[in-house]
Amino acid sequence: MHLRLLRWAVAPAGLALFLLAGQTSFTRAQTTTGTTGMSATSMDAAINAAYEKYRGLQEGKNADYIPALAKVNPNLYGIAMIGADGKVHTAGDVTSQVSIQSISKVFTMARVIQDQGADAIAKRIGVDATGMRFNSIVAVEMANKLLGGPEMNPLVNPGAITATSMVQGNTADEIWAKILSTHNDFAGRDLSVIQDVYKSESDTNQRNQAIGMLMFAYGYIKDNPQRATDLYTRQCSIGVNAKDLAAMAATLAFGGRNPVTGKQAIDVKNVPYVLAVMATAGLYDDSGKWLYYTGLPAKSGVGGGIIAVSPGKFGIAVVSPPLDEAGNSVRAQKAITDVSNTLGGNPYVSRPTMAH
Ligand code: DON
Repeated sequence: MHLRLLRWAVAPAGLALFLLAGQTSFTRAQTTTGTTGMSATSMDAAINAAYEKYRGLQEGKNADYIPALAKVNPNLYGIAMIGADGKVHTAGDVTSQVSIQSISKVFTMARVIQDQGADAIAKRIGVDATGMRFNSIVAVEMANKLLGGPEMNPLVNPGAITATSMVQGNTADEIWAKILSTHNDFAGRDLSVIQDVYKSESDTNQRNQAIGMLMFAYGYIKDNPQRATDLYTRQCSIGVNAKDLAAMAATLAFGGRNPVTGKQAIDVKNVPYVLAVMATAGLYDDSGKWLYYTGLPAKSGVGGGIIAVSPGKFGIAVVSPPLDEAGNSVRAQKAITDVSNTLGGNPYVSRPTMAH
């Protein structure tokens, strides 16, 4: 356990590096060329190649702890990518909907940061990787008893349910309207809940209900934990396709402004905080491995989607339901890694100077 803690103690240094690299590429894209340096042809070629390469892959399994997810077609597979010009590049099925699941955690966190400032999340929930499964109760106990405070993050279930509880409003409907409109602004269209998924998860989410109660017992959630867990379940059931997810990623890639609709979803100053937590914890206990091979802040969901962000260059999303052991889509991880590395999406990549 101590080794795990030590492992995560190095995360802040990595984050600082990431923020610096992301800032540099954003500045370069905005001020020097006004473009990302990637042609539409190279983007199409990269996503078509990744689509074909992994189409026949038979690894992974749909999530089944939410019964409705087990019924989704495992062959559904689509890639969408959006660069600075807002043009949507696609391969495969980019219109069939899956539930957004944990990817929603990013946008509810973004809403809380936007309304209450970056410290609100850091002080109440924490912005550190837990190194444990996304629905770990041990992580809550450890944060509380061993680490002595908010040492989780808004992308694991305890932190996410708490973040949902922090969205302000007098009634559940008022809070929900804020959560949904934030998702809509990022996606660039009016989204809605997939009712079958919402019912299925509501019927089987006793573990999340327990997590909500525990977060209330320990004072992270201030009131009405049942309402917070229900709204969290609802946000996880929002239906999205690969194009929606790519637009959400691209909004984070380009200073919080949706490059398709032109709408500013969150302030430019808040984007680095959102990306930092995605880099730290977006793929749960596999976040380190993911960052090592791609350098990209990303977020997965058990519905089969993954979004990834190359700051100032592109937002990309893949939908493919079969998941690996950590709960991340197998095809999506492989396809995004290939596409990004082909196009130079890793924000840590730099060139030696010519001074000597
Ligand atoms: O709370 C849950 O278990 C789901 N609604 C979301 C989990 C999830 O997507 C984890 N992601 N990889």
